[in-house]
Amino acid sequence: MFLKLVLLCFLVTVVAIEDTNFTYNGFQSSHLYLDGIAELTSNGLLRLTNDTKQQKGHAFYPNPILFKNNINGSVFSFSTTFVFAIRPQYATLSGHGIVFVVSPTKGLPYSLPSQYLGLLNDTNNGNSSNHVFGVELDTIMSSEFGDINDNHVGIDINDLKSANSTFAGYYNSDGKFENLTLFSGYPMQVWIEYDGEKKKIDVTLAPIKVDKPKQPLLSLKKDLSPILNSSMYVGFSSATGSVYTSHYVLGWSFKVNGEAQKLLISELPKLPRFGEKKEDKILTVGLPLILLSLVFMITLGVIYLIKRKKMFAEILEDWEHEYGPHRFKFKDLYFATKGFRERELLGTGGFGRVYKGVMPGSKIEVAVKRVSHESRQGMREFVSEIVSIGRLRHRNLVPLLGYCRRKGELLLVYDYMPNGSLDKYLYNQPNVSLNWSQRFRIIKGVASGLFYLHEQWEQVVIHRDIKASNVLIDGELNGRLGDFGLARLYDHGTDPHTTHLVGTVGYLAPEHTRTGKATKFSDVFAFGAFLLEVVCGKRPIEHVGENESEILVDYVFECWKRGVIIEAKDVNLCTDYSIQEVELVLKLGLLCSHSEPLVRPNMRQVVQYLEMDIALPDLSLLSLSSSGLTFGYREFFEDFPLSYPSDMDKTFSHTSVSITDSLLSGGR
Ligand SMILES: *[C@@H]1O[C@H](CO)[C@@H](O)[C@H](O)[C@H]1NC(C)=O
Ligand SMILES: *[C@@H]1O[C@H](CO)[C@@H](O)[C@H](O)[C@H]1NC(C)=O
Ligand SMILES: *[C@@H]1O[C@H](CO)[C@@H](O)[C@H](O)[C@H]1NC(C)=O
Ligand SMILES: *[C@@H]1O[C@H](CO)[C@@H](O)[C@H](O)[C@H]1NC(C)=O
Ligand SMILES: *[C@@H]1O[C@H](CO)[C@@H](O)[C@H](O)[C@H]1NC(C)=O
Ligand SMILES: *[C@@H]1O[C@H](CO)[C@@H](O)[C@H](O)[C@H]1NC(C)=O
Ligand SMILES: *[C@@H]1O[C@H](CO)[C@@H](O)[C@H](O)[C@H]1NC(C)=O
Ligand SMILES: *[C@@H]1O[C@H](CO)[C@@H](O)[C@H](O)[C@H]1NC(C)=O
Repeated sequence: MFLKLVLLCFLVTVVAIEDTNFTYNGFQSSHLYLDGIAELTSNGLLRLTNDTKQQKGHAFYPNPILFKNNINGSVFSFSTTFVFAIRPQYATLSGHGIVFVVSPTKGLPYSLPSQYLGLLNDTNNGNSSNHVFGVELDTIMSSEFGDINDNHVGIDINDLKSANSTFAGYYNSDGKFENLTLFSGYPMQVWIEYDGEKKKIDVTLAPIKVDKPKQPLLSLKKDLSPILNSSMYVGFSSATGSVYTSHYVLGWSFKVNGEAQKLLISELPKLPRFGEKKEDKILTVGLPLILLSLVFMITLGVIYLIKRKKMFAEILEDWEHEYGPHRFKFKDLYFATKGFRERELLGTGGFGRVYKGVMPGSKIEVAVKRVSHESRQGMREFVSEIVSIGRLRHRNLVPLLGYCRRKGELLLVYDYMPNGSLDKYLYNQPNVSLNWSQRFRIIKGVASGLFYLHEQWEQVVIHRDIKASNVLIDGELNGRLGDFGLARLYDHGTDPHTTHLVGTVGYLAPEHTRTGKATKFSDVFAFGAFLLEVVCGKRPIEHVGENESEILVDYVFECWKRGVIIEAKDVNLCTDYSIQEVELVLKLGLLCSHSEPLVRPNMRQVVQYLEMDIALPDLSLLSLSSSGLTFGYREFFEDFPLSYPSDMDKTFSHTSVSITDSLLSGGR
């Protein structure tokens, strides 16, 4: 019995000691614990994420590691090094990164993808009970976590807001700093060392061909003893957002109380070549048959190629070369949408028809918008604008992936949103209708997206057409604004005689219809109409009788005047809502609908009101009156009745038809 016990003790000790040192030069025969979409490729690469969106992948060393002794409870020194590569689908966009992680559990089951990097979630982020230590290689700038740029290395302690972070790069042998691009697709090596005596973490990065730099890239003086428990797991976490990205680890070594073994760079598995495609097996058939069919095929091929070349001819002008990466080939878009087949049509928006597509090769799902555009004048400015808009990145905006230009036609390629647009959920009431917390989350999301466009980006972007049908719902039921900036197309290129009035009746601010000028104020007005729309489940102008229509804002205003604003809410919201939140949004909707632009709050304030950081001003002090809140549509009719008599009925009966539509169809 005693002997058994001794033996057991011995075994446990041996296991613990052995576990403090391991090296993988490639992962061919490893027994790593994998979850999410992480997988080992046949040649021994660890691929944490493949070309899939909004997913996470984890890989952990299967056994726990002893990080402290129980005598004085301080964490041992440890050292690790690994080689990674990040391969995005597009040369200029990536998402989201890799984290080396020390965690109390094997796998991180409750974590979120995207900016949460598969590490934490929105409730536990920053909580000291997480006991999570990580070093992130982050390729997206998430302002909510105070990221410094979209290419940085950070030390994360229980929190995605890094304790210290810096631009990716390294100090060369002369001590000069050299930049590195994390998602360049090329392998790079990372060293992470914790000195248990000095209580200091050092992180060093270098391209794979460069020896370990003497000067670390990033340091943090921090005692990890309160963070790490004695038995912990080590591994990697990775996540993708709305861009297809593969995150690879090629080799990894780790040691407690000593320096991690050097990796044998020449023995690491090879990454797939850039743009590698799988080859089909060729069947061996009789030689004469092959020759005969070859001649036949070449003849057919030549004819086909000539035809095809004509069909897919594109216009590419010199000045466009600088926008290379964002330009799609028409051919690819044509095949992606199966030749713009009617069955792939997702909808017809204010600016053109939108088709669903699957990109050949990569199998990425996209939404392709075809905008016809006769005039070439202003095209250059517009394309450069599109390119800069393509750089807008926010989780409440639909990402624009690129464009393609062809005879009198512009094609815009967006990320595909599988859940469609918000108006479907509000009006058609499919099997799922949204509950209050989902609606409130969408409202807050759209507000933060619009705040970003107005105030947080390098330029002010006016959206010009905010409405429920322009809000798309992503896989996690976040609201994302689409179609931003498109309205500018009509500023640059259209016939100078048409009024530049773009937007949708019911959402147009009175001063906007008067001057034809869109401003941040007119966006806020439309946002107010959107707020009421989402809470009440009614369109801003609802057609009730033959010649009668109900103006939503007037109705909400009446309810407010009677002291029962809550009665205006959607009848489908029966239980499970917060009276305080519903009232807040309704009142904010009224405030944003004020006819005087300067009385409307700006988007920063709107976000603060919605987060309840500041209290909403008392509406009764703002001398509101029914006419003060009236929608712009009355003035619209006063100003424009003569110019577009035949289209008026149409615009009136389908209130969601945008004015652009009627202007355009009126002209043809
Ligand atoms: C790590 O363990 C291996 C055996 O598993 C041993 O050969 C090697 O010397 C150890 N390395 C260090 C630095 O202790
Ligand atoms: C990515 O991984 C998932 C899960 O292993 C798999 O279902 C999917 O087909 C993979 N996609 C690609 C493009 O390899
Ligand atoms: C804790 O014990 C280890 C040896 O087990 C020693 O190296 C370290 O200095 C001790 N730390 C403190 C704070 O006493
Ligand atoms: C966040 O993670 C914690 C565990 O760390 C889990 O208990 C919690 O339910 C998660 N929250 C959400 C919203 O998933
Ligand atoms: C941290 O997490 C613990 C356990 O999950 C929870 O009880 C506590 O309220 C959280 N603290 C904060 C500040 O969220
Ligand atoms: C390195 O990157 C930083 C941040 O992106 C940038 O400010 C700096 O100009 C770059 N330096 C070089 C030499 O490219
Ligand atoms: C953050 O890292 C830099 C670069 O290594 C270092 O100079 C700085 O002191 C660190 N900041 C903290 C708070 O440790
Ligand atoms: C880690 O240690 C803390 C106290 O040091 C303890 O509260 C917590 O439960 C431990 N976590 C795990 C997963 O063992």
